[in-house]
Amino acid sequence: MRLVFLGAPGVGKGTQADRVSANFNQPKISTGDLLREAVRNKTELGQEAKRYMDQGQLVPDSVVIGLVRDRVGQPACARGFILDGFPRTVPQAEELAMMLHECRTQLDRVVNFRVPREQVVRRLSGRRSCPACQTVFHVEFAPPAKSGVCDRCGQGLIQRSDDEPETIEARLRVYEEQTTPLVDYYRGKDLLVDLDASGAVDSVYDKLAKLLPRHGAT
Ligand code: AP5
Repeated sequence: MRLVFLGAPGVGKGTQADRVSANFNQPKISTGDLLREAVRNKTELGQEAKRYMDQGQLVPDSVVIGLVRDRVGQPACARGFILDGFPRTVPQAEELAMMLHECRTQLDRVVNFRVPREQVVRRLSGRRSCPACQTVFHVEFAPPAKSGVCDRCGQGLIQRSDDEPETIEARLRVYEEQTTPLVDYYRGKDLLVDLDASGAVDSVYDKLAKLLPRHGAT
């Protein structure tokens, strides 16, 4: 199964990609996670990426495409993958098509996550993450057992620096301008399915699972 999860910041792509990855045994490739890892490791790429991420801007295509090319070419991805947060521009989508063509394969489905803007802002403002194991929580919708502490590894939770109100606004603007053209791009290729991703995580997952190729959706 080769999937792309498309949608505005905070619609829940990462949360659902983790579930699909676990339940269908397919690796998740999140460009946001890969970039944050590079920032944490203070690599040259991470330091360049941070300048864009802190302002809610997209990291240049050339940087992100290189990261994805490395991953998609690994043996773990030979039987499929879930791309979370990539592609985000039409040039990225075109590069992805080329990468897959080189591997004599293609995408099976692009899921377009849709959530009203006010819910997205609420989800992003309340998100907390573990800096050690990267588990994601929400102060209201997915709270840890002990406030501010990771259930999995006991580390103190943090708020992502790009989840500050001004940066959220910038990210949503960038999404509208640079990523929404992908909806028509993939609809034109007959790959796009829309998902109403409002509602609780479990109910969104149930709807999503019915849209996946292994469940026979066409
Ligand atoms: P990235 O990390 O990809 O951020 P994003 O796309 O903005 O997406 P988010 O991670 O914010 O949200 P999500 O949809 O995954 O939601 P989540 O599941 O966490 O990118 C960060 C930055 O990296 C970009 O701004 C850019 O600079 C750069 N970048 C990344 N990819 C790039 C690319 N391809 N090209 C160029 N630059 C790139 O959920 C959010 C919260 O809501 C969580 O707290 C969760 O617990 C909660 N939640 C989830 N589902 C539900 C639900 N159903 N009900 C209630 N709460 C829910």
